[in-house]
Amino acid sequence: MLLQLDNISRTYADAHTTVHAVNDVSLQISEGEFVAVQGASGCGKSTLLLTAGGLLRPDSGQVQVDGQDPYAMTNDVRAEFRAQTIGFVFQQFHLVPYLSVLENVLAPAIAVSGSESETRDRALQLIERFGLSDRQRHVPAKLSSGERQRTAMARALLNGPKLILADEPTGNLDHENADTVLGYLADFAADGGAVLLVTHDDRAVACAKRVIHLQDGRIAEPVTSTA
Ligand SMILES: Nc1ncnc2c1ncn2[C@@H]1O[C@H](COP(=O)(O)OP(=O)(O)O)[C@@H](O)[C@H]1O
Ligand SMILES: [Mg+2]
Repeated sequence: MLLQLDNISRTYADAHTTVHAVNDVSLQISEGEFVAVQGASGCGKSTLLLTAGGLLRPDSGQVQVDGQDPYAMTNDVRAEFRAQTIGFVFQQFHLVPYLSVLENVLAPAIAVSGSESETRDRALQLIERFGLSDRQRHVPAKLSSGERQRTAMARALLNGPKLILADEPTGNLDHENADTVLGYLADFAADGGAVLLVTHDDRAVACAKRVIHLQDGRIAEPVTSTA
């Protein structure tokens, strides 16, 4: 099992209101599975993905990624574990503004050891795969949002993760680029990786083998198989 969520809940509270962003969600994803979580804006998709990715501690419930609880680790150990195991594609990309495309894609290499020239070769291959070769020296401000999205995808894949967590990865893409990204995710799962994609895009959902509907922070109906 690459991802196991057991009864995850997460609220956001301020002095006046409490939002139950994720409410008692359980799900499991094995090697080779491509799962989509679909739901309206505000239903808790990003919150769910952040908790699954070791980036946002749930209020209650258990997260296991590749058999380990990221929240039981120290911050340093968790950072390295995440860098090696999880490819996270953020909804707002989180690219470093003063780094080029190539430098952004290479950034996750800092957290793990490895040959510098091999890492660079892998970054250049990913940049080519996502159609960014002629943009590799540009900083994010000089890119279209689709190019930023594809840079974020390439960066997520640099360290050869076992699990990809992708937050609306086709939200900024035209059909052709969306197909490139979705095709890559499907290939990644076919090669034994696990993919959890959250989206409200029907085209992205159509690529998944299993679709989970999220409504007001809860799984709305039993897991269905489209395979
Ligand atoms: N940092 C935050 N502080 C307070 N409320 C938040 C925060 N992030 C998200 N929310 C609220 O939690 C709910 C779920 O948000 P989110 O997980 O971003 O949903 P989605 O990704 O499906 O649009 C929404 O009502 C949103 O307004
Ligand atoms: Mg979101």
